[in-house]
Amino acid sequence: MKELQRHFDIETHSGPFPIPKKKLVTKIKDKDGLISFPYDTIDKEVIESGKKLKTISAFSVGYDHIDIKSAKRRKIIIGYTPEVLTIATADLTITLILDMLRRVTEGDRLVRAGGWKEVFGPDTYVGEEIAGKTLGILGLGRIGKMVAKKAKVFDIKVIYHNRKKIPHKDEKSLGVRFVSLDSLFKKSDIISIHVPYSKETHEFVNKKLIKKMKKTAFLVNTARGKIIKENDLVLALKQKKIAGAALDVFYNEPISNKHPLTKLQNVVLAPHIGSSSVKTRAKMAELTVDNLKLGILGKKPIYSV
Ligand code: DGY
Repeated sequence: MKELQRHFDIETHSGPFPIPKKKLVTKIKDKDGLISFPYDTIDKEVIESGKKLKTISAFSVGYDHIDIKSAKRRKIIIGYTPEVLTIATADLTITLILDMLRRVTEGDRLVRAGGWKEVFGPDTYVGEEIAGKTLGILGLGRIGKMVAKKAKVFDIKVIYHNRKKIPHKDEKSLGVRFVSLDSLFKKSDIISIHVPYSKETHEFVNKKLIKKMKKTAFLVNTARGKIIKENDLVLALKQKKIAGAALDVFYNEPISNKHPLTKLQNVVLAPHIGSSSVKTRAKMAELTVDNLKLGILGKKPIYSV
């Protein structure tokens, strides 16, 4: 905000999030630039209303909340924040995997609820060890690759599925192997989702794919909620068709404590904190401002869509 104030007249939304559509459509009319967050819907109507709008700077790597086609038609420059959040998001993915396998959050819930009765039973609260497991990565982009790199330290086998196989030398240096989508879901002990959200990936992970998973397998999602057909996942978890899930993203965010996922023990839930480290959020803020400044001048942002 300080940096923005040095250069621009700024108007911010205060009150409940996200900004009501009507307010956004009115407020955008005389603005040259817009900073948006993943929960804002920047659709055709918003873009068309921004008669003076030159640039949109997304405070996120995901830009599925922006109607790119409409923005392109109006020649609006779009900036976003990849790379700077790769490490933080991969760290959270690994954290969720370990938590889920060793039942840390589940144990925390038990202790807080006063349910810790047996001090040390041979088979109480036992979880799974990560070593020797097969991790399947769906989408080997920047974050998927970073997850693979970090996972290797735990003595784990990494397979992946992607639209395109990566070059063999990169596969070798990362220690990953390309498999079909079918094999990924059949062979993995843990499946981690790292594809961007789009029309093509909408509800991509549904009962058809979940059905292929081992009964002992876990699903992790730090990408976007709508990539999973949430009802299908809830059913599979309830019926113990899979062992568990760890989710940082949801179909509609924020989820309430009445959401069916909150009733399940074999699930770890995080409030969309993939990029949420002090260091990363500071870098994202800086990049968002720099992208905005360039976009307003009609120049290419540091990272542009
Ligand atoms: C992003 O950048 O798209 C994340 O989801 C926000 O942390």
